[in-house]
Amino acid sequence: MRPHVVAGNWKMNTTRDAARKLTQAIVAGAPKDPRVLTILCPPFVYLRDVAEIVVGSPVALGAQNCHAQPKGAFTGEISAAMLVDVGCTHVILGHSERRHGLGESDGAINDKVHAALAVGLNVILCVGETKEERKDNRMERVFSRHIAAGLAGLKAADLARLVIAYEPVWAIGTGDVATPEQAQEAHAFIRSFIGTSFGFVASESLPILYGGSVTAATAAGLFSRPDIDGGLIGGASLKADEFLAIAKAAVTA
Ligand code: PGA
Repeated sequence: MRPHVVAGNWKMNTTRDAARKLTQAIVAGAPKDPRVLTILCPPFVYLRDVAEIVVGSPVALGAQNCHAQPKGAFTGEISAAMLVDVGCTHVILGHSERRHGLGESDGAINDKVHAALAVGLNVILCVGETKEERKDNRMERVFSRHIAAGLAGLKAADLARLVIAYEPVWAIGTGDVATPEQAQEAHAFIRSFIGTSFGFVASESLPILYGGSVTAATAAGLFSRPDIDGGLIGGASLKADEFLAIAKAAVTA
């Protein structure tokens, strides 16, 4: 059976003190169930604080981005190896706020995927359509492009360290959550596309998360669908009780 994953994407939020308190509360209540992995993705500057608190707990540490190059003259950037050095096991790549807000291309994301896997990180690759693309019924073309380009050059065995997050852009931070039916349909397409490219075993063992305005109230309905294996949570991951209720919903789903 695929593991369920609930990852909190804190984006550019919290203070150092708030990050520590939020982590303490989540570590205290996180599910100790091998079927669910809880991951916290704080801003870079709080990674060490969070790492110190999650050590020895069932909560893993992730970053929100990395650079494709291992080191060098890249002012303001952080390499994948640096993330490992401070205790990260995961990294989010290709988030729509970076694709659309910062102009990150599929090629640049693919370079980062390779860089992250090369140093042993697990990658959470985000894919998803804009409102326009959904209106024009271009979802499957968008998923195919994001996945084919994002995972170019990978072997089936590399997918053991991959998680895909389906994040419709129109649902992120809007309160406009996809229905379980919409999300299931997208996840089923993504899984079959992965199956065609990397084989049945890789696709069946790949966790595919839904992200976009998930709350404690909507989590159980989403996670109960056969191809929805947890969530990438933004706003609701900044409140310990809400985030823990979402993680609990992933245990029982
Ligand atoms: P949201 O963000 O839960 O606040 O919509 C999700 C994400 O961007 O990962």
